[in-house]
This record gives sequence, structure tokens and C-alpha cells, in this order.
Amino acid sequence: MWKNAIDDAVAKTLQNIDRFGDRFPHVSRNGKYQQIDNNDWTNGFWSGMLWLCYEYTRDERFRAAASRTVESFRERLDAGVVLDHHDIGFLYSLSAKAKWIVEKDEAARQLTLQAADTLMKRWREPGRYIQAWGPANDPKEGGRIIIDCLLNLPLLYWASEQTGNPTYKEAAAIQADKSRRYLVRGDDSSYHTFFFHQETGEPIGGATHQGYTNGSTWTRGQAWGIYGFALSYRYTKDPLYLETAKRMAKYFFERLPEDHVAYWDFNVPVTPDTYRDSSASAIAAAGLQELIAQLDECDPERAYYQEWLVKSMTSLVQHYATIGEEAEGLLKRGSYHVRGDLSPDDFMIWGDYFYLESLMRLERGIGGYWYER
Ligand code: GLY
Repeated sequence: MWKNAIDDAVAKTLQNIDRFGDRFPHVSRNGKYQQIDNNDWTNGFWSGMLWLCYEYTRDERFRAAASRTVESFRERLDAGVVLDHHDIGFLYSLSAKAKWIVEKDEAARQLTLQAADTLMKRWREPGRYIQAWGPANDPKEGGRIIIDCLLNLPLLYWASEQTGNPTYKEAAAIQADKSRRYLVRGDDSSYHTFFFHQETGEPIGGATHQGYTNGSTWTRGQAWGIYGFALSYRYTKDPLYLETAKRMAKYFFERLPEDHVAYWDFNVPVTPDTYRDSSASAIAAAGLQELIAQLDECDPERAYYQEWLVKSMTSLVQHYATIGEEAEGLLKRGSYHVRGDLSPDDFMIWGDYFYLESLMRLERGIGGYWYER
């Protein structure tokens, strides 16, 4: 089943190379991807899909297209195009770092290190955290951290590994600790974002951006937490991160509806019209594979997580994927921002990416580009 799903995804991605040219797919509207310039938080996912397809097929057309995206990311960094946010890790892990991992290209490694320096500019020493959005001292955004940022920390851990400079890793671990302490609640659910006092670092409180309410659990945020803490554990071996990834995974997988694919928020009232977020389930499945990879071969918990993984991925493949259909995207029924009425029931390029990453890890053991292989 996984191989069939991958073959379909690879064929669609190949068609999309011509369809998108030098533009980048973002989210869809009426089944068509919005094609954007390299100026949003989502551009790296297309690059990552091309690298995954290249690793799987060794087809030169994927390599050439993937390398073109890396050149685009170089221009973006040189020109400083929309880089004043925490998402630098999403952008450069899956593009320049992927090229380094796949081809050991030194220029790509240097570009990735430059990107890590750019992410470090988000570090706010008074409060000791990575600010999510907006300029330093911004009255509204200056004190905000965000759970999504956990997937950006591997860029910093990796930069310390590569350079021997511990500063990146120290910042990443402090951010992971703060995220664990303030974004994850006592019942293992999570806030999407959290505010601190900008000068003193005193905690203020949790808030949402894309979730149902400030106190609810946005499913994609919970999924970022599962994957992000499992990755922080890989790099630091701090057992608290592994424990947190497990707790967040249990919360996520034990609260899914009958078909094992998440609604967009765990607290939204469920009616026949409630939107799913298949991208949250794809991220959680990829995160679960990272979590399982961190457990001993004889750990009795492996079977428990493995069962959830297979149930989720089977449902995505059988009920949400576009296998056999004429379509631009791979995974239907993602939601970007339901309350903002932004693509609440569409293809999301990150949903497609994590679905493909997860399939390839199941089938071939090819993980993503979050860590050195
Ligand atoms: N990181 C933004 C999102 O998940 O929508």
C-alpha cells in the first residue's frame, strides 16, 4: 500500500515541476494550488518534496528542480526577503540543508549555516526566547513564542554540530525547555502560543492564533509538539523531551475520531460540517516515526505507537489521498486557518510534504532533512 501511494505522489510531483515552474505551491483554492514567489513560510516544503522524490527515484529531473529551489533560497537570504520570523528552519532545513545531506554540497552547507545565523537574530536575550513574529520590542508580538517553532530548532542544533559553536544549541534547548514548561499544559494538551513580559521574561499567558479558542488545543500545534520534542530529544538526549513527545502523542492519538484523522482543533464542537486538518495528522504520523526511532528495539511501548502510526497513515492513504485522481495535491482536507477563512478545506503544501516524508520513512526508512543521516 505505501509503495503504491508513493508512486502516485512521485508521479504527481513530477507533473507539478512543469506546472509550477519557478513558483512555489502554498495552499489550494478550488483544487488549484496558489503559486507564490519565495516569500512565505511554506516555500521549503516544495523543495523538500523534490529532494525526497530525488532520493527515492534518482531521477535527474527532481534533482535539477530541487537545486533550482536552493538557488532561489540563496537569493532570498541575500536579499533578506521576508525572513523576520521564526520559520527559517522550515525554509532552509528542507532546501539548502537537504541539498547538503543528499549531495554533500559545501555551498549548500554554508548557506544553511547563514540561515541558522538569521534564525538566531530572533533570540531575545531579556526574556531568553525565540520571538515568533514581528520586530524586536514590538508592543504586540515582542513577547510571543509559538509551538510551531519546535520544528525550527533542528536548524540550530545542527549548526552547533557543524561548527562546534554551542551557542545555537544552547538557545534551541532553552527554547525547547520554555516551550515544554509554558506551551504544554498539565493534561498534555497545548497552547498554540504563549506571551512573556519582554523585559523581565515573566510569563503572562497562553493564546491562540489559528486554534478555536485561547485555551483550546489546535491539532496542528499538538502535532508540531510531538515531532518537535522528539527531534529535540534526538539532538540533546534530555529524557524530558522524549517524555513530552510521548505525552503529547498519547493526547493526540487517543482523541481522534473514528477514522483516525484529526479535526482542526480538539475542542471544536463536532458536527457533520466540522473541518478536518489532514496536515495535522500527517505531521503527527511523521513525528510518531521519529519518536519510535528514539525508543529501544525491545521497548514495550513501540507496539502502541506503531499501531497508531499504521492506523493514521492507512486512513490518510485510503480516505484523504488523491491516489488515482487527476489532482495537483496529494492530501485533501487540510485546513490552514479556519477562523480566518483561509483555505479551511484544501491542499496544504506542508500536508503533502509530511505525508510523503512519512510514507517514505515507512517504505524505505528515508526520514526528512531535520538531522544529519
Ligand atoms: N506554522 C504555521 C502553521 O502551521 O500554520
